[in-house]
Amino acid sequence: MTAVAVRVPAKVNVQLAVGPARPDGFHDLANVFLAVGLYDEVTATRADSLRITCSGPDADKVPLDRTNLAARAAELLAARYGLVPDVHLHIAKDIPVAGGMAGGSADGAAALVACDALWGTGASRAELLDICAELGSDVPFSLVGGAALGTGRGEKLTPLEVGGTFHWVFAAADGGLSTPAVYREFDRLTRGAAAPSASPALLAALRSGDPFELAPVLTNDLQGAALSLRPSLTETLAVGTAGGALASLVSGSGPTTAFLAEDEASARKLADALTASGTCRTARVATSPAPGATIVTG
Ligand code: C5P
Repeated sequence: MTAVAVRVPAKVNVQLAVGPARPDGFHDLANVFLAVGLYDEVTATRADSLRITCSGPDADKVPLDRTNLAARAAELLAARYGLVPDVHLHIAKDIPVAGGMAGGSADGAAALVACDALWGTGASRAELLDICAELGSDVPFSLVGGAALGTGRGEKLTPLEVGGTFHWVFAAADGGLSTPAVYREFDRLTRGAAAPSASPALLAALRSGDPFELAPVLTNDLQGAALSLRPSLTETLAVGTAGGALASLVSGSGPTTAFLAEDEASARKLADALTASGTCRTARVATSPAPGATIVTG
């Protein structure tokens, strides 16, 4: 096998309940992930040394050194199997960068699956999930996709049932937000955060597949911190609500904002209104759930 391409989805958090900071600096979460159909594609090809390249509108914002989670994924897998991680990883990037949609995590999961296939390492699903958790809190979910409850720091996953297709609009903002900075701001703003737990109403709404049931129970505990660091997002949220969104919220640690729509036509109208408003860089429609990291050629 000379090249393997893996497609991997973005995510939105439909519930992000954050507890107090732990001694290790992470926060315990009840993190309900939903994979959405905006995809990066990572292609692994044999090479003389580990090399990362990236294409797409945000390519200039992607680090091409060993800090890229795709590079770290290749190194961790190679180390486990006594291999040298000589591979060229090309990232075709469509997920907003540093946007709260787990684009970097997605590339880590995709690179892992691609290198496993390219090198014929034959790692088990459990081993791959283990490496994903080492790469970052959101990476295991990028591997599995669909919908899942993440506990611990978000890496311990329980799959969830989704009863239908949800229609979303995602508005990308100018510039990213640093996830650690958003958690620090959460700590500053929040005194005595409660132990996080999954909302039964939210889980029931996902099962129903009904956007009218889901809209009122969407929550993100990091939203206040993201808005505090980037107050202009309030305007984007207001445009979405005025444009007919059933719910408007910050995606993960932001600054991408997420809007739940009634159906595909409403989502398209809403995306046009957001784009025309000038309060965001771009607005994209996408549906959920979406499958996790999947080999598309190889
Ligand atoms: O796990 P990951 O590397 O994606 O986390 C990035 C940063 O986000 C952490 O260093 C930490 O500051 C913050 N974080 C957190 N609690 C979590 C997940 C992430 O505080 N559960």
